[in-house]
Amino acid sequence: MRMRKKKHGAERIAACADLLTVKPEAPMADPNVCFDAPRTLALEIGCGKGSFACGMAAAHPDVNFFAMERVSDCACIALEKATAQAEQRRNDNLRFVIGDAKTLEEYFLPHTFDRLYLNFSDPWPKSGHAKRRLTHRGFLELYRGLLKEGGMLYFKTDNEGLFDFSLEEFAAAGLTVEWQTRDLHNTEKAADNIMTEYETNFSSKGFPIYSAWVRF
Ligand SMILES: C[S@@+](CC[C@H](N)C(=O)[O-])C[C@H]1O[C@@H](n2cnc3c(N)ncnc32)[C@H](O)[C@@H]1O
Repeated sequence: MRMRKKKHGAERIAACADLLTVKPEAPMADPNVCFDAPRTLALEIGCGKGSFACGMAAAHPDVNFFAMERVSDCACIALEKATAQAEQRRNDNLRFVIGDAKTLEEYFLPHTFDRLYLNFSDPWPKSGHAKRRLTHRGFLELYRGLLKEGGMLYFKTDNEGLFDFSLEEFAAAGLTVEWQTRDLHNTEKAADNIMTEYETNFSSKGFPIYSAWVRF
């Protein structure tokens, strides 16, 4: 996501420090200490401007959410949104991490998370860039380490090519696709679906949303 450089970005992020998890010296033994109480742990990778993370944290007070974003200007918007919407969350259950997914093992120990979310990940359409796709088998192995046994990955995209590639990668990694659709908004799951910024934009233009729920 290309964005114009935010003015005073560092100060604006610092003003939301309560919601930010900085890189620890060693991976956190118990990430639940970041929240007001221990709960089921979920991680969104590539949260963009944070609508999904804010919506999920408000809708699921029984889950503690980390939302990771590598572009600090995007994370700044997400942090400010989450700060402004604090009263919509019954519990103190949302934190942000500014960093690249490749560094996740520097924050979290193996088998930490119950759920991972990938929403509208960059498609990297050139075949030479396939390893950068967040559903490439290299990333799936990273997620296998981070997820608890039997943990779930929830994936949404507007991009048919990325969806087909991802299904192939899930199969190659020996993962079970428990549910999939090529038109999420016309399924029974639509009622509980929390929209992302990209999803709102693409679906308003009439594009179908692809989704897969994958068990590790
Ligand atoms: C296409 S945008 C989608 C944003 C949001 N999920 C949505 O659906 O509106 C993809 C986001 O993932 C972030 N991203 C891509 N690769 C990443 C990585 N390796 N680690 C962390 N964030 C990443 C990008 O910076 C960008 O904000």
